[in-house]
Amino acid sequence: MADDETHLFRTSWSLYDALAAENYMFHREIYTRIAELLRQRRESGPYELLDLGCGNARFLAPCLRAAAPASYKGVDLSQAALDEARGYLDGLEKVSLHCQDMLQAVCAAPNTFDTIFSGYAVHHLDAVEKQQLFHACAARLNPGGVFILVDVVREEGQSRADYLDGYLRMMRTQWVKVRPEDMEAACAHVAAYDFPETVSDLARMAAAAGLREPAVVERFGPHHVIIFHR
Ligand SMILES: C[S@@+](CC[C@H](N)C(=O)[O-])C[C@H]1O[C@@H](n2cnc3c(N)ncnc32)[C@H](O)[C@@H]1O
Repeated sequence: MADDETHLFRTSWSLYDALAAENYMFHREIYTRIAELLRQRRESGPYELLDLGCGNARFLAPCLRAAAPASYKGVDLSQAALDEARGYLDGLEKVSLHCQDMLQAVCAAPNTFDTIFSGYAVHHLDAVEKQQLFHACAARLNPGGVFILVDVVREEGQSRADYLDGYLRMMRTQWVKVRPEDMEAACAHVAAYDFPETVSDLARMAAAAGLREPAVVERFGPHHVIIFHR
């Protein structure tokens, strides 16, 4: 499945980058909040960070500069995105980038982390894979560690079909700067590969993995920032 779900990111990474630059998915507000969270974490001591589905790390990089982790490990299936990430992360200490499936990366990680972060990537996994990811993250988090999830989320009781109807309508009516041919590619990608959960589904998965009740610390429509404490 991974070969297909990341096709858009492997072949036209620049399209996602352009959408993010237009702030259609609230990257500016959301990463402002992430910067605050990482600054608070840094104040309590050095921390090791794992970034799942890091892409080119364009938005996380400034947050990391303001709250430098002792080490940063980024994982993504798109080599094109990782090649760009190296530039955005230039100057940070102990950066390692891995072209790898995120679930395999967490399961196989030889060390543990204080913060696991994922931005707009986990919704590509199906429910079984998400549950496995929560188990793997819980096992790889140090005591007091956090999993910070930025992702799209369904409303409680909303079906995937209804979620997709609403999201695709929003894209077509509000993402006005996207060229028509790019819009079709983006909509086809979302319709085929977006499997967002509800907050209560995520809470259930987290609880089954031994993580504490999540806190939704930010949301802009379906775009959420959720923190899971170990
Ligand atoms: C929408 S981009 C998000 C990039 C960045 N984290 C952000 O917040 O802007 C999603 C990224 O997840 C990656 N991805 C999707 N499924 C993955 C998987 N199973 N393992 C690793 N990376 C994955 C894609 O290649 C893509 O770079």
